[in-house]
Amino acid sequence: MRRLELEGLKIEVFDTVPELVARAAGRLFDVLRTDPEAVIGLATGNTFIPFYDFVATGYRRAGISFEQSVTFNLDEYLGIPRESEGSYHTYMDRNFFSKTDIVSENAHIPDSNPADPEGEAENYERLITRSGGIDVQFLGIGRNGHIGFNEPGTSFDSRTHVTDLSASTIESNAPLFGKGKIVPHRAITMGIRTILDSRKIFLIACGEEKSSAIASTFTEGRMTESVPSTALKLHRNVTVLLDKPAAKSLL
Ligand code: F6R
Repeated sequence: MRRLELEGLKIEVFDTVPELVARAAGRLFDVLRTDPEAVIGLATGNTFIPFYDFVATGYRRAGISFEQSVTFNLDEYLGIPRESEGSYHTYMDRNFFSKTDIVSENAHIPDSNPADPEGEAENYERLITRSGGIDVQFLGIGRNGHIGFNEPGTSFDSRTHVTDLSASTIESNAPLFGKGKIVPHRAITMGIRTILDSRKIFLIACGEEKSSAIASTFTEGRMTESVPSTALKLHRNVTVLLDKPAAKSLL
C-alpha cells in the first residue's frame, strides 16, 4: 500500500481491490472493537459489494458484532417499492443485513415510497441527530464526483433532502434494475453537510472509470459545488482508499 496526502486528505493506494477491501473492512472492525455501539454510515453501489462480502464473511472471526451498532444508509431511490430489484433496501438485505447479526430496527434506510418525501427526508436527518450523529461514514464516488446522491450543483450546506438524479447517474445505475425496468429519477440522500458532520469518513473508489472524478477531487485548491466530492476538503478526518486505476492521475 502506498500512502499520500493531498489537499489535506489522506490517501491509501492499493495494488488490488481485495487488499483495499480488507483494509476498509479492517478499519470498520477497529471502530466497532473500540465502540460496539458505533453509528455507521453506509453506502451501496458496485464498489461496496466486495466490501460487504468481506465484512459479512469475516466479522465473527474479527471478534466483532453488529448487534449494538446503528447504521444509516446514505440514500435510496424514490417512487419504487422497497422490494424492487434495484432498491437499496434490497441491496442491503442481500449483501449485508441478512448475512450479519445486525438488528433490523437499528438499520436505517430512507423510505423508497413515502407519502411525503420531503417529510421523510427531514425525519431521516432528525433520526441521525437523535442517534448522536455518525461516527464513521463510508462513501463511494460517482463518475461525476457525486457523494451519496448529491449531484453536481448541490449546496455544501445541504441536509438530507429529495434530489433529482443526473442523466449520468441514471445511466450508470440502470443495469441494477434489470432489462426494460424503469429507473427512478429521484432519490432521498443525506446532504453534504450531513456527511461532513460525520466524525470520520472513508471514501472508496476502484477502477479507471473513477480516475477523472478522483483527479477533479484532488485538483489543487479546488473546492466547488460542481464537484461535490471536493467538499471533503472541509473535513479533518477523511481517508480515501483507491486501487491503482482509480489513483492513476495521482501517482
Ligand atoms: C450509493 C451512493 C453513490 C455511489 C456511487 C458509486 O449509496 O451513495 O454515491 O457510491 O454512485 O457507485 P458505484 O460503486 O456503483 O460505482
